[in-house]
Amino acid sequence: MGLFKKFVSQTRKPEGLMGKMMVNGMNGGHAKMADWGMSHLHSIAPLEIVELGCGGGRNAGELMRRYPAASVTAIDYSDVSVGKAKEYNKEMIAAGRCAVRQGDVSALDLPAEKFDLATAFETIYFWPGLEKCFSNVANVLKPGAKFLIVNEADGIDEASLKYEKIIDGMKCHTIEEITSALKNAGFSKVASDHHGSKPWITVVATK
Ligand SMILES: C[S@@+](CC[C@H](N)C(=O)[O-])C[C@H]1O[C@@H](n2cnc3c(N)ncnc32)[C@H](O)[C@@H]1O
Repeated sequence: MGLFKKFVSQTRKPEGLMGKMMVNGMNGGHAKMADWGMSHLHSIAPLEIVELGCGGGRNAGELMRRYPAASVTAIDYSDVSVGKAKEYNKEMIAAGRCAVRQGDVSALDLPAEKFDLATAFETIYFWPGLEKCFSNVANVLKPGAKFLIVNEADGIDEASLKYEKIIDGMKCHTIEEITSALKNAGFSKVASDHHGSKPWITVVATK
């Protein structure tokens, strides 16, 4: 495997030294897009948030900053991501507001109907069987709770198509594909937005 392919493939499941470098980079590199995505959450006051595919944990930290009454459970299947997310959020973990756990969204092991908000930044590209994973997310949300999805690739931009070819198992979904999978997974209402000048997309679904 070429070095470039090996490095960018670390976005799927960060591992080893290269994975650590990738996770550090993602914390800074995704912040602006993640904040744009979070700005689509209106009039909510979540107490329990689950941050799925949390990577290095920066977005879990930002959610706790924006929602001071909330606790965040951050989940990722990569031990490198879990390690970095724990380190990044160590003060909040000590304060009892954050838990970081290793787990796979395709076999989510969390209590049913516990969360007021689920978030997924730059991660659903790698979830196997989108509809099944979305239905796992629906299962852990309370009725009326929100699921926020934020991607920097809209499924048709040049970069999406390029990285899909390089990274095994990556699929850049369009807003239409995401919306359809969410509805089939049992979400009642789905709203979406496409950034005006970038291929960034945000989808907010209501259980
Ligand atoms: C591109 S990174 C994004 C990390 C972070 N959300 C961010 O925006 O910086 C994708 C993350 O999703 C995680 N991931 C991918 N598939 C997953 C799954 N099925 N279950 C849990 N985590 C997953 C990867 O391990 C990786 O940390």
